[in-house]
Amino acid sequence: MSKSIYPIREEKLGPLSFAVREIAAKYSSALQPYFYDPTHAVKLFHGDCIRILKEAPDNCIDMIFADPPYFLSNGGITCHAGKMVSVNKGKWDESRGTEENHAFNLEWLEQCQRVLKPNGTIWVSGTTHIIHSVGYAMQQLGMKILNDIIWVKKNPPPNLSCRYFTHSSEIILWAAKDKKSKHYFNYDLMKEVNEGKQMKNVWFFNAPSPEEKKFGKHPTQKPVELLKRILLASTKEKDLVLDPFTGSSSTGIAAFILKRKFVGIDKEEEFLKLSIKRFNHLKAEE
Ligand SMILES: C[S@@+](CC[C@H](N)C(=O)[O-])C[C@H]1O[C@@H](n2cnc3c(N)ncnc32)[C@H](O)[C@@H]1O
Repeated sequence: MSKSIYPIREEKLGPLSFAVREIAAKYSSALQPYFYDPTHAVKLFHGDCIRILKEAPDNCIDMIFADPPYFLSNGGITCHAGKMVSVNKGKWDESRGTEENHAFNLEWLEQCQRVLKPNGTIWVSGTTHIIHSVGYAMQQLGMKILNDIIWVKKNPPPNLSCRYFTHSSEIILWAAKDKKSKHYFNYDLMKEVNEGKQMKNVWFFNAPSPEEKKFGKHPTQKPVELLKRILLASTKEKDLVLDPFTGSSSTGIAAFILKRKFVGIDKEEEFLKLSIKRFNHLKAEE
């Protein structure tokens, strides 16, 4: 991604060349990958995904999985491991109000649509707090919504207030770049893993196991098995997969295992450090 940024033609710059080169170097250094494993084609970038995606060329990504902020960190409580805990995940998850949250979803989705190849697809996970905004933004951008997957969590935490049904599902919208896209779907494999029957859009997966969190915890980590299904359904080996909100890089771990190339972005350095521990562990196991 970073190579094509700010190409400088020395002969055109004339006497200003030194200053221009300095400025260009400053900006491109901000876009150096935070982590790069050329053997497994894994790149991680540190920073705001909208800013970083703006530097990427059009039509370069085969598939995107995005798990954006759900804007849930509002001071409420939830249950974790049998204990009452705050729902607050971090500053990155605080709501900025309905209008601003939607403007944010529209802006990052627009960049994702631009970098997707013409037949590429995007998956976006969310709860009711954001998924309607994401679906509306997809329609505003002219994407073609292919499916809404209902991920049923087999082991949800109980609802402590006893004033609501237990929250036990998330929605994952799957969309093609635009109405003309001829998207890839590995129908046969999905049927095979579903014991010979057409796979339905309701999927059952546990939350990540303690084994998946042994290098540290991300507050909203996704199970690798869920990501493996998504990658197997919509990509081929060596395809380039992007996760603009990579967190602990569950998408990247699935990509590594399934031999897809991966680019992840996160604005919190601590989550990139956690991601690197997970990638290094996989490398050491080879
Ligand atoms: C819901 S979590 C993703 C968790 C991830 N799927 C996993 O399995 O670990 C969202 C992530 O997006 C990051 N984030 C929030 N806003 C961002 C932005 N504007 N640009 C890049 N990363 C952002 C947060 O730091 C957080 O790690």
